[in-house]
Amino acid sequence: MVRGLAILGATGSIGRQTLDVVRAHPERLRIEVVSAYSNVNALVAIAREFSVRRVAVRDEQQAQIVRAALPAVHVLWGDGALAEAALSTGVDLVINAVVGAAGIKPTLAALNAGVDVALANKETVVAAGRMVVAAAERSGARLIPIDSEHSAIAQCLQGYRRDDVAGLLLTASGGPFRTVSAERLRTVTVADALAHPTWRMGAKNTIDSATLMNKGLEVIEAHFLFSVPYDNIDVVVHPQSIIHSLVAFRDGSMLAQLSVPDMRLPIQYAIFGRDGRVEAPWERLDLTQVASLTFEAPDTVRFPALSLAYRCGEAGGSYPAVMNAANEVAAMAFAAGQLDFLGIVDIVERVIDGHESVTPLTLDDVLAVDDWARVRARALITERGRGA
Ligand SMILES: NC(=O)c1ccc[n+]([C@@H]2O[C@H](COP(=O)([O-])OP(=O)(O)OC[C@H]3O[C@@H](n4cnc5c(N)ncnc54)[C@H](OP(=O)(O)O)[C@@H]3O)[C@@H](O)[C@H]2O)c1
Repeated sequence: MVRGLAILGATGSIGRQTLDVVRAHPERLRIEVVSAYSNVNALVAIAREFSVRRVAVRDEQQAQIVRAALPAVHVLWGDGALAEAALSTGVDLVINAVVGAAGIKPTLAALNAGVDVALANKETVVAAGRMVVAAAERSGARLIPIDSEHSAIAQCLQGYRRDDVAGLLLTASGGPFRTVSAERLRTVTVADALAHPTWRMGAKNTIDSATLMNKGLEVIEAHFLFSVPYDNIDVVVHPQSIIHSLVAFRDGSMLAQLSVPDMRLPIQYAIFGRDGRVEAPWERLDLTQVASLTFEAPDTVRFPALSLAYRCGEAGGSYPAVMNAANEVAAMAFAAGQLDFLGIVDIVERVIDGHESVTPLTLDDVLAVDDWARVRARALITERGRGA
């Protein structure tokens, strides 16, 4: 059976690696719809290569560019375009590879309509975890993780009962600043932060890896996806990024999933996993080449984002959504040279400290909290820039 895909965020790092998976299995996969945000020319090239009949873009101006290049293609644009794209005819699986809270609406639209979602966009689960999980449970649609850690956990959980699981152990590469002193962290640059030792990712995810906020977001993601309490979710730094995460069982055994650090593997597993494993033409893991796998505890003094994420996750309510939105603003301000590296987590913490939690019950509640946190974070960044 040929599976129809919607690839949201097709021009990004995960989006482009998803295209590689499609190139490897052209007889089994068909792309129904793709989206982009700023790289409209790249989107046109993708639509041409894969004979895609629908695309979604940010605004009317971009829509005109696509129409001029591809007159036969149906173009969606504007606020509801991603959700509409996710619900396109012929879509069996939505790959959500968008960055940030922009992924919430299409994920909920698909899950509410009973369409399976393979989710790279962890921010959606952090900001609207309860809602997303409830939507999947109500409709019976599957929410499949693409993040390598959560894919590893999902693979390790195959065939085990929930009662058997004692806890989850997420691995973290430690990012580019794992061995950098607290003093030196004051002056690291954007280029330093973007030089990730093991993974090639989009800018926001790479900066989140440098602050360890990425791992914090993943802890919250794991809590919602696997219904495991925060006390039973741990993080271990594993610089080689070969073990992608582990599950601890009540008899003391642990299962781990290993592979080369290549996101095409979890993407392919998310697409085909239900039907078993399929051939992958990419590099294989050679343990004799890896030689040693090492582990260390995360340093939560130099990298306070991880403790902050546990705090927000455990507090629940609107805290995870606030943390996520403030972090998006602060990480991108750092990328734009408007904030120093240590300022990222400092701003997030100050936004959280000034927030009174509510219990977001609807999508509008989540979006309101998200808006509030963004405005607050921007104001604090401006103040910090003035040296206030
Ligand atoms: N990259 C990885 O290895 C990796 C691993 C695990 C999880 N993830 C997660 O996967 C998601 C995507 O990460 P990435 O590294 O692929 O990011 P990325 O390279 O920055 O790509 C993001 C994609 O989303 C689009 N986009 C950006 N802002 C948007 C908005 N406001 N509305 C709609 N679309 C928007 C971009 O379009 P344009 O390019 O046209 O601007 C691009 O297609 C993130 O949630 C990240 O945490 C990534």
